[in-house]
Amino acid sequence: MSHLMASGQRIEILFDAETITERNRALARDIKALDPERLLVIAVLKGSFIFAADLVRAMHEIGLAPEVEFMHLSSYRESTVSTGQVEILRDVESDIRGRDVILIDDILESGRTLAFAKDLMVARGAKRVMTCVLLEKPGKRATDIDADLIGFECPDRFVVGYGMDMAHSFRQLPFVGYVVRQDGDDSA
Ligand code: IMP
Ligand code: MG
Repeated sequence: MSHLMASGQRIEILFDAETITERNRALARDIKALDPERLLVIAVLKGSFIFAADLVRAMHEIGLAPEVEFMHLSSYRESTVSTGQVEILRDVESDIRGRDVILIDDILESGRTLAFAKDLMVARGAKRVMTCVLLEKPGKRATDIDADLIGFECPDRFVVGYGMDMAHSFRQLPFVGYVVRQDGDDSA
């Protein structure tokens, strides 16, 4: 299935809104099963903002009441290729010591972003640091981190939508997909 933007660009849909909603409900149940105490959810901005917003509401639906924080990390990237360094653009305000922390990110690719955030929370004295990503791109890992909770396995393509962007566009889309090139081929 595909979606035609007003601009004329076509987006091939990989995970539609309904599928994502169902998966979020299951992830919330998985989080509850971890029996978290003094839970602090940290959304790693920017790409995770819609996923995190939906996931914390799915958590609320089943009786979880996490505190929610934000951390803006930037992995230096030239166009769509990561260069490997991670920078804190905005830090959390909360004291992490003794807390159960769940880091929420959009995509686990090289793993550098999430490994950086996890190491930081461990160094700050978190009791437990769990990681939850909407998408995992297999075969791309440059660190030995694995996410504890994964929404979906993602094909090896540059994806957009549901918070994720290509040059700040497409974040508003309620689904995840990839841009199809005008000549009918796609932007793998
Ligand atoms: P990692 O540090 O290599 O794991 O990079 C993960 C980050 O790169 C994600 O949080 C995204 O912000 C970004 N990223 C990686 N692949 C894509 C993609 O296909 N679309 C949009 N952003 C991506
Ligand atoms: Mg990101």
